[in-house]
Amino acid sequence: MNFNIILLPGDGIGPEVVAEAVRVLDIIASKYKHTFEYKEHLMGGCSIDKYGSSLTDETLADCQSADAVLLGAVGGPKWDDPTAKDRPERGLLALRKGLGVFANLRPVKVHPALMEWSPLKPEKLQGVDILVVRELTGGLYFGWPKGRDVKDGRERAVDTLEYYDYEVRRVMELAFKLARGRKKKVTSVDKANVLESSRLWRQIAVKVGEENPDVELEHTLVDTASMRLITGPAWMDVVVTENMFGDILTDEASVLAGSMGMLPSASLGESNVGLYEPIHGSAPDIAGKGIANPIGTILSTAMMLRHSFKLEAEAAAIESAVEQTITGGARTADIGGKLSTRQMADEIIKRL
Ligand code: IPM
Ligand code: MG
Repeated sequence: MNFNIILLPGDGIGPEVVAEAVRVLDIIASKYKHTFEYKEHLMGGCSIDKYGSSLTDETLADCQSADAVLLGAVGGPKWDDPTAKDRPERGLLALRKGLGVFANLRPVKVHPALMEWSPLKPEKLQGVDILVVRELTGGLYFGWPKGRDVKDGRERAVDTLEYYDYEVRRVMELAFKLARGRKKKVTSVDKANVLESSRLWRQIAVKVGEENPDVELEHTLVDTASMRLITGPAWMDVVVTENMFGDILTDEASVLAGSMGMLPSASLGESNVGLYEPIHGSAPDIAGKGIANPIGTILSTAMMLRHSFKLEAEAAAIESAVEQTITGGARTADIGGKLSTRQMADEIIKRL
């Protein structure tokens, strides 16, 4: 089959990890007789430098008409000026919104061989296999009003946490659907004891729960959830939560896996065009050195094959190659080794 993929390598280590993921995709293409056509665009800080905009209309339009988008990372100290008109992160938010990808899937699995890299005791990590479903196009990141002004002689800043019922329902329904293919358990995370938006969230979670009686539903307040992620992560399976809670909890959860460099993500909406990116950032401190861990991005391509292209066997082949590579002892610097980005990808490709 034929697929069009937009590559947005972005900033920092983004181009290094995307290049290796593309090599993996090319092996899959030749082995399983598919054609992947790539088109590359600047996005983030590099796009501000060249075009004065973190996401140009042309780039967004190309992404919208592609079959899938693979993103590296955006941002860096160069574009961190708080008074700047545009920021790399704005481009990422505009891309998510423009693609309508309202659900961000962030699976967190702990490979037994990497347990020593997690600050948690190995017995806590046994059996950890969590799928966080983060709402991605609503909440505080997008609510209106938003901005700065001067009121009563005081400088003021405002962000708005806003959710419509349909925004909660669609991400909740997806979480239940995904739970059905797993342990049939959904943990909905909110702050319903304080926030009105969370009370709507919980009300809809209960409704969707009643419509899906075969899936167990529980509610956890976000502060408790952050604690339980550390004290008893193996007890969680599918976790569904609003945008900012999900942002925070997934960074916390990534620590379980030993390194952020290991973790992929998929952002999905109503259409099949998905956005795939590792959960790590642009890591300016190691950019250009060729030592970043490419696994998060390579596993993101596996999610692309599964969710956007419906190529389950191909996706599983990548995941199993990564698994064997880690079992075989291959390690980049973040997990205590000396392999370069390219060498790690070579190890994975060998096992494909
Ligand atoms: C993430 C990142 C982004 C977010 C930033 C870069 C805008 O932290 O994907 O988790 O907060 O969503
Ligand atoms: Mg984040």
